[in-house]
Amino acid sequence: MDPSDGHKCDVLPATASAYLDPNYWEQRFAQEEHYEWFKDYSYFRHLIVEYIKPNSSVLEIGCGNSKLCEELYRDGITELTCIDLSSVAVEKMKQRLLSKGYKEIKALEADMLDLPFEDECFDVVIEKGTMDVLFVDSGDPWNPEPVTVSKVMTMLEGVHRVLKPHGIFISITFGQPHFRRRFFNAPSFTWSVEWRTFGDGFHYFFYILRKGERPSDNIENTEKIDVPSISLFHEELDDEDYLFRTNLDEM
Ligand SMILES: C[S@@+](CC[C@H](N)C(=O)[O-])C[C@H]1O[C@@H](n2cnc3c(N)ncnc32)[C@H](O)[C@@H]1O
Repeated sequence: MDPSDGHKCDVLPATASAYLDPNYWEQRFAQEEHYEWFKDYSYFRHLIVEYIKPNSSVLEIGCGNSKLCEELYRDGITELTCIDLSSVAVEKMKQRLLSKGYKEIKALEADMLDLPFEDECFDVVIEKGTMDVLFVDSGDPWNPEPVTVSKVMTMLEGVHRVLKPHGIFISITFGQPHFRRRFFNAPSFTWSVEWRTFGDGFHYFFYILRKGERPSDNIENTEKIDVPSISLFHEELDDEDYLFRTNLDEM
């Protein structure tokens, strides 16, 4: 995060449950010009270029005021649509993109739980830290509250629906595989599930879900379950990431 970009302590919520409140995001985006959740593009660009071809049509879910879509555009991925539930974020995003001359990127106010797109229309759907919002106040991460399970499944069903037959869903998150797999591997999905990690010291996860490529026996590769152990040194994390994470994947 670049502090000169306008991130101020006064946008921090008192408790992490505020992240579930759409009004919190509206007020925050009215004050804040740019904040990059987790890590910026430079940390995972090598993975993006490996998985997203420049001619892909891409949907970014929960863009907030991140620069992810601009960075993708600069890497030649120009058929981009970004959505957010916050009208303020979307309006500011439109203005920012216009001022930079990125007229091809579409920004729309939309709910990830009710995606307003036709079936099978995107090659790639990507999200960074957006699905994580659904896990705030989810209770025991090994056995999340039914309301959390229902919302996460609704989101994933929408993503699966709008992906083209061999489309890819990329999810960038703190969420560790032992907590995400039960959702990603639900019987209704046809995608395969793999992941990579990035970051220094603390590992972030970069999940790659390929629609239509689920192995027929669907046996999980136990080698992949061996994820890096997370040693959470508070000083390695931005304060807000820490606040966010403590309500996600407590071990
Ligand atoms: C933790 S921020 C991540 C922002 C951005 N992706 C980034 O990496 O910096 C979560 C974002 O999800 C948006 N959001 C929350 N609920 C949403 C929903 N139901 N549909 C679409 N966006 C949502 C919020 O407005 C916010 O912009």
